[in-house]
Amino acid sequence: MVTPWGVIEGDVLIVEGRIRAIGKGLPAEGAKVIDATNKLVLPGAVDEHVHMREPGLLHKDDFTHGTMAAAAGGVTTVGEMPNTLPPVKNKEILEEKARLLSSKAYVDFGLWGVLTKGNAADVEEMITAGAVGVKAFLGPTTGNIPPPSNQDMLAALEVSARLWFPIAIHGEDAEIVDYYMRKMKAAGRDDPAVWPEARPPEAEEAAAWLAYSLAKASGGWIHIVHIGAAEVLDALAKAAAEGVNLTGETCPHYLILDIEDYSRYGNAMKVNPPVRGGRHREELMEAVKSGLIEVVASDHAPHAAEEKNRPVWEAASGFSGTQTLYPSMIDLALRGELGIEDVVRLVAESPAKVLGLWPMKGGIMPGADGDIAIVDPRGETVVTEEWFRSRSKITPFMGWKFRGSIEYTILRGIVVYDRGEIVSGPVGKHVKPVRE
Ligand code: DOR
Ligand code: ZN
Repeated sequence: MVTPWGVIEGDVLIVEGRIRAIGKGLPAEGAKVIDATNKLVLPGAVDEHVHMREPGLLHKDDFTHGTMAAAAGGVTTVGEMPNTLPPVKNKEILEEKARLLSSKAYVDFGLWGVLTKGNAADVEEMITAGAVGVKAFLGPTTGNIPPPSNQDMLAALEVSARLWFPIAIHGEDAEIVDYYMRKMKAAGRDDPAVWPEARPPEAEEAAAWLAYSLAKASGGWIHIVHIGAAEVLDALAKAAAEGVNLTGETCPHYLILDIEDYSRYGNAMKVNPPVRGGRHREELMEAVKSGLIEVVASDHAPHAAEEKNRPVWEAASGFSGTQTLYPSMIDLALRGELGIEDVVRLVAESPAKVLGLWPMKGGIMPGADGDIAIVDPRGETVVTEEWFRSRSKITPFMGWKFRGSIEYTILRGIVVYDRGEIVSGPVGKHVKPVRE
């Protein structure tokens, strides 16, 4: 099993939903026993970045299927993003969303609020009501939520400095994106590979430096999500060296896919920010190894098939990813590109810390919730429509084979997923951060 203290062999004893003990030869009288001999026992993944579309966007997907997909992929906690309808811009909407989703969740979930134009004054109430943080969409994407002004950002960052929570940003400069989108359209480009040119790495670079400056000025915490450009790394490194609170997340697609893949997968891999491949992929991989980028999350963003199967300029951005998050990262470990402990740090421990849920979530240790994924390292995960629980079956990884197979997903001691089947009811709960 992979614990915060390293890889050890032994048992995990879960009592009343929590890990009571880890070690060899633990008593099991009266307990349900799962034999995990020769298996990898990992903490359930904490996918800090998902868009499950409920409420308001049910033609894309819903929370029931999204959280079943999470469970089938070894994810036991998700951080649900706020670009649903209505956008989560105040405490009342947040609490209503928590109530609605509670009866549908197959895994535990935290909720992000939104920071948009004009609602900075609502941030504190959302946080004290239990939001894991707030998200600001600096660049245009699904939902077209207006970006906050720099002044809105600073006001919210001062609350972050006081109460300590992340302000997640979608880090693309809106004007740079707008300029190159128009330029590429006018040039008559219509191939999916235009996307990384229409949203160039400098759009991410500009947003990252702005984030650096705002975090530095205010003392608050900005977390740049779904980093797709190597240019962002300089800002992260400078911030780290100076003690500025700027952290980062990337996603499996930025670590695995390449520019040639656009000719194979087309708009299935259209996502914001775009997949760029090449030196970006290599440098992002180095950054997750070194810890400069702390988190890998899915940016699970399902859409209806008719929204994806359109010409590149009109096609929706994003694809279903929560179910392939752990399998794709475990595959990298089993191929020797990353250590299994790196994978656990990136996909469970660090995101639990970002969401304020550590040490309850993200680690196999006494006192933590009994959230476990059991993986057969000799097995194989074949990505098929039948295996895929999300209602939206579009992903560039359809048909891929990953090394390793997730056999069980256990949430607070309850087996939710057992070798291909969801075997529990919707036992997930809304979880709130505990921050000091
Ligand atoms: O491609 C994306 N899709 N990027 C985002 O930032 C949002 C997401 C969505 O909600 O569809
Ligand atoms: Zn997202």
